[in-house]
Amino acid sequence: MAVRIAPSLLSADFGRLGEEAQRAEEAGADWLHVDVMDGHFVPEITFGARMVEAIRRRVKIPLDVHLMVAQPQDHLARFAEAGADYLTVHVEACVHIHRVLCQIRTLGVKAGIALCPGTGVAVLEHLQDVLDLVLVMGVNPGYGGQQFLSSALKKLRQAEQLLRERRNEILLSVDGGVTEELAGNLCRAGAQVLVAGSWLFRQPDLRRGIAALRLAGEASRPDEPRG
Ligand code: DX5
Ligand code: ZN
Repeated sequence: MAVRIAPSLLSADFGRLGEEAQRAEEAGADWLHVDVMDGHFVPEITFGARMVEAIRRRVKIPLDVHLMVAQPQDHLARFAEAGADYLTVHVEACVHIHRVLCQIRTLGVKAGIALCPGTGVAVLEHLQDVLDLVLVMGVNPGYGGQQFLSSALKKLRQAEQLLRERRNEILLSVDGGVTEELAGNLCRAGAQVLVAGSWLFRQPDLRRGIAALRLAGEASRPDEPRG
């Protein structure tokens, strides 16, 4: 299966976000990853639904909206209206995670769950019927440019095992600290979506950066289903 590359706009030039989004699309991005931070769940504040709406008008590729917010249930409808294709909530921010995932789907949007480095995969077991995406964090959420925590590799493998029978329905994504050097191991461990911020936007040529991540990821993937 192809690896999807999702540049994170968190590392783009905030003064020219529309152009940056288009630049990423033209450079071959499969998705755009939009990091929404509320100053509560994580210290920084970034984008709101109106920003997602503005980005939606500039690109056609799916918008992968990562809600790093407390009480995400209060904001789902606005982000759905704004044009999000995926809405990913943190299990750590939800008292009733099953209900929240159902709410996302009811809005006609794909439902994702994000796991912080301190959260295990066990929570996924009873959520498989209401999930479209699992986002394994490679760093503690809140900032771009952090170093990938190697424990996330083990977690990807565990998630891959747990979701094995649903691999065509539930995508496994990894976010935080993703580099070309790591991409092979991440995809070998089960990642199908690579979210990349600082590494990608640091590349002098975004198209080459996206291609390099894709190549490194796909080269590592076995053709046969893992038994
Ligand atoms: C971190 C965000 C990430 C961030 C990744 O909290 O969720 O999406 O942009 O940035 P890098 O790739 O620089 O770690
Ligand atoms: Zn993110």
